[in-house]
Amino acid sequence: MSTITTGVEFRPLVVPDTVDAADAGDFLAMVEVRNQVYREISGHDDHSMPADELLPHYRPDPDEVRLVWVVVDGGSIVGRVGVDLPTHEGSRSAYWLIELLQSVQGRGIGALAYELVEQASRENGRTVLQSWAEHPAAAGERIAPPTGFGELPLDRAARFYRRHGYSLEQVERNSALDLTGSFETIERLYATAREASAGYRVVQWSPPTPPEFAEGYGWMKSRMNTDAPAAGMEFDEEEWDAARVARHDSKYTEAGRLLLVTAAQHIATGELCAFNELAIGKDRTAASSQEDTLVLKEHRGHRLGMLVKCAGLLAWRDLAPESPRMITYNAEENRPMLDINEAIGFVPVAYEGAWKKELS
Ligand SMILES: CC(C)(COP(=O)(O)OP(=O)(O)OC[C@H]1O[C@@H](n2cnc3c(N)ncnc32)[C@H](O)[C@@H]1OP(=O)(O)O)[C@@H](O)C(=O)NCCC(=O)NCCS
Repeated sequence: MSTITTGVEFRPLVVPDTVDAADAGDFLAMVEVRNQVYREISGHDDHSMPADELLPHYRPDPDEVRLVWVVVDGGSIVGRVGVDLPTHEGSRSAYWLIELLQSVQGRGIGALAYELVEQASRENGRTVLQSWAEHPAAAGERIAPPTGFGELPLDRAARFYRRHGYSLEQVERNSALDLTGSFETIERLYATAREASAGYRVVQWSPPTPPEFAEGYGWMKSRMNTDAPAAGMEFDEEEWDAARVARHDSKYTEAGRLLLVTAAQHIATGELCAFNELAIGKDRTAASSQEDTLVLKEHRGHRLGMLVKCAGLLAWRDLAPESPRMITYNAEENRPMLDINEAIGFVPVAYEGAWKKELS
């Protein structure tokens, strides 16, 4: 059903079979708007993704329902609204975004879009609504989360969240590592980590995940939601069986994205104990991203975090030699992880807010 108010329409997104399909027009325009919104916020294209690489993320998925609307103003697509609903029994969560081109902000479109977000969440029985946004550096009043780590300017997005009843729960740091310089520091840190991690070996693969690693990798993926510092944000525990690992893999393989998983394996038991993921789209000259990294609780204290990160980056030099930067996100209070990234050479480039509201 479409909602038409004051000339603005929220039209449910048609997800085409391929980006060349006859009905792909709205999807292609949605991706253009997404990339432009991120460029307007951050001033660069590191968050940009081509349509064919985003498409796999919008296909029907047994783990999550994705509701998406395009915002249509005067016949053109000027924004998008998304609400993600995890499907497992008893989930109270909805994760959402509203992204509008700068040219249409400040007209009340965001407020209308937000009504749609809350309505869709309520209709699906969701009461914990959460959302993330980058808040670029700016002068003026600042706000801080209850964690005591990090702060953000009280900008339009922050005012928008607050006006709609949200509290800032956590600040996340977006950092970048220059990949064009020397890898000497990384080589040295890798050697030190190897010494501290006797009894473990490094294993690496790209999707499809080798069958012998599917169970261990799935278990570590499922620990991301339970073990990473979440401050006041709430995450459902996820179950990752072999089929879910295969679905995750296909999001990379389907459109030519490259993922490198570097894991630490306990030699005596064969157990996978730590992992790091590095990824890049099919344009290998674009920025790369460091995605999940985790050391299982029972295996902390052996420098396995440093080991898998450095081993991944050293391999990346050969896999994507033309990529100029590696970008990553960490909670501002996640000192152990930030210590590793800072030692490797990551520097902060921007901050995101993690916002939450509980519906009564
Ligand atoms: C944050 C965002 C969604 C807000 O959307 P928006 O349409 O600009 O929001 P609104 O128009 O409802 O409110 C914005 C401003 O316009 C004012 N406004 C609201 N209705 C208005 C109207 N009818 N006429 C004039 N001004 C109006 C509001 O008071 C508000 O003022 P403020 O920015 O000084 O606080 C939008 O700016 C955006 O897409 N930003 C980039 C992406 C992002 O950060 N998204 C965050 C959620 S994921």
